[in-house]
Amino acid sequence: MLSRRSLLISGGSIAACAGLAYDLWPDLHKYDDELARQRKVLASDAGLREFIRYATLAANGHNAQPWKFRVAEDKIIILPDLTRRTEVVDPDDHHLFVSLGCATENLLIAAQTFGRPGETHVPDDSHTIVEIALESGVEQKAPLYDAIPFRQSTRSAFDGRQAPTADLELLKSAAQEDGVSVLLFTDPRHLEAILELVVEGNSTQMNDPAFIAELRHWLRFSPEQAMASKDGLFAACSGNPTVPGWLGDLAFSLVFKEKAENDKYRDHVRSSAGIAVFIGDEEEPKHWIKVGRSFQRFALQATALGIRNAHINQPIEVPTVRNDFANWLGVAKTRPDLVVRFGYAPPLPMSMRRSVDQVII
Ligand SMILES: Cc1cc2nc3c(=O)[nH]c(=O)nc-3n(C[C@H](O)[C@H](O)[C@H](O)COP(=O)(O)O)c2cc1C
Repeated sequence: MLSRRSLLISGGSIAACAGLAYDLWPDLHKYDDELARQRKVLASDAGLREFIRYATLAANGHNAQPWKFRVAEDKIIILPDLTRRTEVVDPDDHHLFVSLGCATENLLIAAQTFGRPGETHVPDDSHTIVEIALESGVEQKAPLYDAIPFRQSTRSAFDGRQAPTADLELLKSAAQEDGVSVLLFTDPRHLEAILELVVEGNSTQMNDPAFIAELRHWLRFSPEQAMASKDGLFAACSGNPTVPGWLGDLAFSLVFKEKAENDKYRDHVRSSAGIAVFIGDEEEPKHWIKVGRSFQRFALQATALGIRNAHINQPIEVPTVRNDFANWLGVAKTRPDLVVRFGYAPPLPMSMRRSVDQVII
């Protein structure tokens, strides 16, 4: 194996940033074995714990997995794990509640498939949780069920292909949710206008030491680091070279620069087939959960169609840019919630999840 290794020099300038392509990393089978275990297709006798495992495969901000699950009789309650907040990028827990919505959707789809259709209820109090009452029903495979273990955020450049109109319609209809509007942009002029705001937001974030420190906290540079925490953003999942943990900090400070990141986003947006924007009717946790459910179905439908997606949320994360974005969208009185590009590319490695034992209380 060693003889096949090719060193990738990030940025070309500094030998210290030498990293390996993910699939040439020694002992990679350990990461792949762990992934296979986490993403194993549900067995025919799957019950509530296994539905929770599928829920944890949902998208979530920084892969912080800010959720806890409580199992009561015929009920699963999803609670926020406030120890896993990302308070710099997400000071009002918007992303946290969107993430709970994503997990809710996976759970409902898995349970329905196994004859346990669910009713969700978000109580009206300040301690926002999602209660899912599971009924007994007929086993009926939910249309997006098969896509759950294969959905991923694909943070690479796409190949520039356009998506067929029929597929855009399927994406829109999968994302339909009461209280959430989903706008799809495919006109290159619209993509350029959104890109400008992505770059503006990204520049603001790249110049914010607190943002960088928080991001760094969630980065995992090697499979060993990713497997140890079973959370966070593993470099290979973003298409970046894999480096030993001890080299990660140095490599990060040398190659993670404003101009290079902005150029990357230009490439990413210009190679995309389109951008989806999700807008909840109201700016509060109940609606953020709905946005998460809508987005998760969008992402699963995209996966089923062979369409990749990745977040470019800078325009909604930086408050001043968010105002400009809302004005541009013509929704000045509401808050745009998510910005997601979509298109075609090979898959990247899948990200880690913590075990059911770690998230169940
Ligand atoms: C609310 C929310 C916000 C997110 N924001 C970003 C983002 O700004 N940039 C990004 O690359 N990914 C973003 N993601 C994607 C997560 O990082 C990703 O879901 C997580 O790392 C798990 O990886 P997976 O989606 O491949 O399973 C976001 C996801 C959610 C649900």
